[in-house]
Amino acid sequence: MIQTLEWTEDGVRFIDQTKLPTEEVYVTCTTHEEVADVIRNMVVRGAPAIGVAAAMGIALGVNNSSAQSTGELKRDLDQICGVIGKTRPTAVNLFWAIQRMQEKFEQVHTRPVQQIKQELTEEAKRMHAEDIAANQAMGRHGATLMPSSGGVLTHCNAGALATAGYGTALGVIRAAIEQGKKIHVYADETRPFLQGSRLTAWELMKDGIPTTVISDNMAGAMMKQGKIGAIVVGADRIAANGDVANKIGTYTVAILAKEHGIPFYVAAPISTVDLACADGAGIPIEERNAREVTHIGGKQMVPNGVSVANPAFDVTPAKYVAAIITERGIARAPYDDSLRELAGQNAEVRR
Ligand code: MRU
Repeated sequence: MIQTLEWTEDGVRFIDQTKLPTEEVYVTCTTHEEVADVIRNMVVRGAPAIGVAAAMGIALGVNNSSAQSTGELKRDLDQICGVIGKTRPTAVNLFWAIQRMQEKFEQVHTRPVQQIKQELTEEAKRMHAEDIAANQAMGRHGATLMPSSGGVLTHCNAGALATAGYGTALGVIRAAIEQGKKIHVYADETRPFLQGSRLTAWELMKDGIPTTVISDNMAGAMMKQGKIGAIVVGADRIAANGDVANKIGTYTVAILAKEHGIPFYVAAPISTVDLACADGAGIPIEERNAREVTHIGGKQMVPNGVSVANPAFDVTPAKYVAAIITERGIARAPYDDSLRELAGQNAEVRR
């Protein structure tokens, strides 16, 4: 399995996703500031991978702390979480991971400082293992929804590289293929960062899964020609009503799917569901550097001085989502009820 990120004796090791698909190189971070940088610069990206990276970054920071007392360690922990929490705003997994590490600290705060550090390290490693298990469970549930043969379209990269391993949307496709389904993946290239053509195609090729890369503006034509039997994408944050924030362009794909009568599925772990967010309007959308749009492979593609927009995500209204596949089962509309039931909690709704 591709090692997207892992805890090693030397630090947290990441495959550098900015260099794929032409170079397979790794970077090792030894401080939480370095982990914050690799999240911000998208060396590691994808909501679940960001969550696990955040937890490991926090564990690194805590291990580096010179605190002599629990109070001092708590002050350092809060400062570390503050740095990690300012990296990327949309993927709720980042904040879920920070909260989980804070809760772990509360559980073990009466122990000696050295032991607290050890417990937080173990918690981060546990989150890594749990993410892989969640993706495999998601795959088992979601595979039942995949066609027995034919094309399945995906957008961005919701694969092993976007998670601790196996993937969410690509996990569903992997599981369907493991069950004998004859699926051919259509991977949207996903402008501007090209996660589809660079990352999805790379990891599917490694697994020998038949894949065709298309530019984003070809998706409608492929659907019209009957080449796409289902669509499955990941998510960065899912509101309580089932509105889904995912990579920019996902909304367009969902509308096209509706027009062509193709089921549009979302695969995401429960940690991506934000019950405190009533609907998609409350999801913060990251605006990234204009250079991602203006330049391709270092070459300028727009005239000097032109205005450029670069929202990294969009929100697909729940009415376009045929089902949300989670590790705990499949949620269907009305999502207010089904998501709350799967998440198994009554969070206060923020409006
Ligand atoms: O900007 P990115 O590459 O972090 O965006 C990633 C996506 O939008 C993914 O589809 C999403 O995080 C789900 S990953 C399992």
